[in-house]
Order: sequence, then C-alpha cells, then structure tokens
Amino acid sequence: MGGRLRGRPSTVVGGGHVALAALATAEITAAESVLLTGAASGVGHLAVQLAKIQGVTRVVAAVGAADKADFVRGLGADEVVVYHDESWSDPVDVVLDAVGGDLLPRAIAALRPGGRLIFFNSGGGTVPAFDLLAGGKTITGLTMARFASTRRELYERHHERLWQLHRTGELRAAIHAEIALSDAASAHEIIEARANRGKVVLRP
Ligand SMILES: NC(=O)c1ccc[n+]([C@@H]2O[C@H](COP(=O)([O-])OP(=O)(O)OC[C@H]3O[C@@H](n4cnc5c(N)ncnc54)[C@H](OP(=O)(O)O)[C@@H]3O)[C@@H](O)[C@H]2O)c1
Repeated sequence: MGGRLRGRPSTVVGGGHVALAALATAEITAAESVLLTGAASGVGHLAVQLAKIQGVTRVVAAVGAADKADFVRGLGADEVVVYHDESWSDPVDVVLDAVGGDLLPRAIAALRPGGRLIFFNSGGGTVPAFDLLAGGKTITGLTMARFASTRRELYERHHERLWQLHRTGELRAAIHAEIALSDAASAHEIIEARANRGKVVLRP
C-alpha cells in the first residue's frame, strides 16, 4: 500500500486522458502556473506529472492532508498546499479542479485575474457569479465523453502520447493498493477515507 510508482498501461492511459484533456482545455502554456486540487488522486497524480512533462513552470499540488505532500512532491510538484491552509499559493493562471464542492470558491479565489478553472469533478458546488466578474475569470466544464467525441483528433493524439510516455517510463501510475474484486468493499473503504495516493486497482 502507499502509492508506489509502477508502469501500468490501463491506469496511465485511463486517468491520463482526463489529465491531458483538462490541460488541453485550459490551453495552458509552459510559462504559466497551474494548481491541481485532488493532486494525489488517480487522475490528479498523473496530471501533476503531465503538467511538468509539458514544461509548466509552476505546478501547485493541493491535497486534503499534509501526509500526502511527499507523494505529490515526488511526482514533480513545485509547491504543495493543504486545503485547510489559511492561505493557498500565490495566484495561478489555471486551476484543474478534481474536487469541487465546498472547495470551489477557494479554487476560484486561487486564480489570478484572467485565470481559467477547468471543472471536471463529481463534487458539484455553487459558483457566485460575482466572483468571476471583476477578475474576468472563467470556468469551463469538461467530461471525457464530450471531449472524446467533439475533439476526436486531439483525443487520438493524446492516446498515442500516453502510450508513448508509458513505454518510455516518463509517466508512471502509482498503485496505492491492488485488491481482489471479491474484496471490493476494502477498496471502497480506502477511497471513502480519501487515503489513496494514486490508483486503487481491483483484480478480477
Ligand atoms: N469529467 C470526467 O469525464 C471525469 C472522468 C474521470 C474522473 N473524473 C473526476 O475526477 C475526479 C478524480 O477522479 P479519480 O478517479 O482520480 O478519484 P480518486 O482516485 O478516487 O481520488 C479521490 C480523491 O478525491 C479527493 N476528495 C475530495 N473530496 C472527496 C470526497 N468528498 N470524497 C472522496 N474523495 C474526495 C480525495 O483526496 P484529497 O482528500 O486529497 O482531496 C480522494 O483521495 C473525480 O471527481 C471524478 O469524478 C471526471
């Protein structure tokens, strides 16, 4: 248990697609900065690595607990913030929000004027529209189903890129735990406790 980095094609390619789609939707450039909520999650830990592979200068990993800091730093994060920290980082150009819910207003506040938030989580949340107004901030929703059908060519390029990064070992999936399907309840317990660093894999 505990997020050892391994090469595993299905986990790299599956979660990697979400991460690459979010980075592409943000149209992030290397000179910009990005903050990722849920940075230790299955998708988040790949997004941290992919942002660094794309050359993004400042990658801020936001996590729910301080004991995830070493894990996300080991993936290449330049800075780590914990949600309950009183102040987060200096403002960023882009937020990739894998959590939403109560965290959404803070994620919007973390954006510099003109900043873009990509919302792809299942946490929901409410956006006071006024929070976007003065800073000219934007929020863009993302689902993989829509991305894969409306941006087919880019999706296919991402697919090839993820396989290539997997083959070269540049992008590694962290397997927090591998659990027999018959013991799926244990896997749910890990996820519900928000304890996972990387993926929890069920073995048929
Ligand atoms: N839009 C799409 O097409 C698409 C596709 C795939 C996944 N997603 C979304 O991407 C997000 C990450 O997915 P994943 O597979 O990487 O997740 P995951 O590996 O299951 O990770 C979940 C992590 O989210 C954080 N979290 C924050 N609030 C939580 C809550 N109330 N309950 C449980 N976890 C919570 C926890 O880390 P911390 O405590 O450190 O925050 C937890 O470890 C999810 O919201 C998922 O729905 C979207």
